[in-house]
Amino acid sequence: MLLGSIEELKKTKIQCIETADQSFVLIFQQNQFYLLDNLCPHKAAALCDGEIYGEEIECPWHKARFDIKTGHGLSPLAGAGVKSWPIIEDGGQLLVKLD
Ligand code: FES
Repeated sequence: MLLGSIEELKKTKIQCIETADQSFVLIFQQNQFYLLDNLCPHKAAALCDGEIYGEEIECPWHKARFDIKTGHGLSPLAGAGVKSWPIIEDGGQLLVKLD
């Protein structure tokens, strides 16, 4: 699935990507993109409204933290974490390989 132009997506550090049936958070950090499921496993806050701290993203509601590279939960409220999706750069476009 096409996420968009790499040059455009690089302009925002953290953004929401919505499809008809899925919600993702796209993170651009240290010249790398990372794509995670957007809903916090605690109470379903949108992680794309959160903050980035180094290699971690913090949920905006109760501060659960997740590894931006793997989606793994790094604090008790984060549980097992969120799914991390493989992304592909191709011809100036960013794509995600969905299951
Ligand atoms: S909803 Fe994310 S920590 Fe509570």
